[in-house]
Amino acid sequence: MRVATIMGSPRKKGNTARVLKLFENQTIQNGHEVDRINIVDYEVKGCLGCQSCRKERHKLWCRQDDDAIRIFKRLVATDAVIYASPLYTYSFPAQMKALIDRQNCLVKDYGTSECIAFLKDKRAALLVTCGGPVEENADLIQEAFKRESQYQQMNVVGTYVVPYCTTPDALGNNAIEIAKQMATDIVSEEQAHTANCSSFLT
Ligand SMILES: Cc1cc2nc3c(=O)[nH]c(=O)nc-3n(C[C@H](O)[C@H](O)[C@H](O)COP(=O)(O)O)c2cc1C
Repeated sequence: MRVATIMGSPRKKGNTARVLKLFENQTIQNGHEVDRINIVDYEVKGCLGCQSCRKERHKLWCRQDDDAIRIFKRLVATDAVIYASPLYTYSFPAQMKALIDRQNCLVKDYGTSECIAFLKDKRAALLVTCGGPVEENADLIQEAFKRESQYQQMNVVGTYVVPYCTTPDALGNNAIEIAKQMATDIVSEEQAHTANCSSFLT
């Protein structure tokens, strides 16, 4: 299986990168391929809401000339996508939010029998690291992710939160267990069919 991982933190050596790396190492060890995308290495502007992309029904296209479409082509070429993100003000950091908003161009004629969704049926998972707890903190981001994935017609295998993060070196067994669980779930047939979302509490 080919798995794309989007590392959505501006800190390339932070908590999110550390947990994601654990996931990637485990996934490669399990015999799968990983394509890492560090969001800060690319230019992804905010969506203009112009809806020009809707007119190009069969084309992966946006009128903005930046890296978004190049990233989306990489996602289309995979079987699964991991969205890894720190929690910023109960939500995604601006860099990650820009990419997620731009995913708007991947769905055409939503809600009709003519609907096209470029990421349809791909497996998806969310990994969040945060300084606080899951409850009343990392709840909204999981909900937003599930709804966006539903819009994209992706198959959510899980949402995973590493709470109470301080520094990458201080990440404990909980982070390792979560990374391993994600690596198991993302390739699991059972998980894909259940499409169940779960979060991990310490
Ligand atoms: C601008 C900003 C906003 C944040 N907002 C939250 C928050 O709402 N809830 C929380 O638990 N942690 C919050 N944090 C802490 C980060 O989510 C946490 O330190 C995370 O693990 C950082 O990941 P990174 O090292 O990969 O960048 C925030 C940090 C920053 C810099």
